[in-house]
Amino acid sequence: MLDHLTVVSHPLVQHKLTLMREKDTSTASFRKLLREISLLLAYEVTRELPMTTKRIETPLEEMDAPMIEGKKLALVSILRAGNGLLDGILELIPAARVGFVGLYRDPETLQPVQYYCKLPEHMEDRIAIVVDPMLATGNSSAAAVSLLKQAGARQIRFLCLLAAPEGIARMKEAHPDVPIVTAAVDSHLNDHGYIVPGLGDAGDRMFGTK
Ligand code: URA
Repeated sequence: MLDHLTVVSHPLVQHKLTLMREKDTSTASFRKLLREISLLLAYEVTRELPMTTKRIETPLEEMDAPMIEGKKLALVSILRAGNGLLDGILELIPAARVGFVGLYRDPETLQPVQYYCKLPEHMEDRIAIVVDPMLATGNSSAAAVSLLKQAGARQIRFLCLLAAPEGIARMKEAHPDVPIVTAAVDSHLNDHGYIVPGLGDAGDRMFGTK
């Protein structure tokens, strides 16, 4: 079982994250770094997946070789910034099923408002990994995980790039059964719900919008 919180301290992850945080990093570089870092984070979030063996024949002899057990994983992206993490992870796990949850944050209340939800079938039989680069207030993340649970999912992991202590606490309160994997835990949220020091708006930096 993964711990409730895993901070991936690997030097490559930390180096790439620093480059992403810098305000002068271009959109193209930001996107490339996010794709690269998502591969490294995917490696961590898929630790301890249940394994089985398959009887195979190598050119030399038969063996019982390890394979991931069960139905294909479900990767669920919280739109729109989640798609940046999703693209990289799909390179590593191309057979995964993919879902999308659309939530925007009401700028006044900071509460999530759902506008889209499309999940793979048989969520009850899949391990689901919810992806969103920024775990800020935790309200959207907690709402997305609740949607997955309503669809039957019982084994859910949450993957982000940066987390605020407030978001971690919110997730722990709402979903203590959902382990979080992140590259860093920052200091706090500002009055607009941005992670400080953070990296700004992940979606804007990824897509070159303002
Ligand atoms: N979403 C972002 O993109 N950045 C933050 O700092 C918080 C939420």
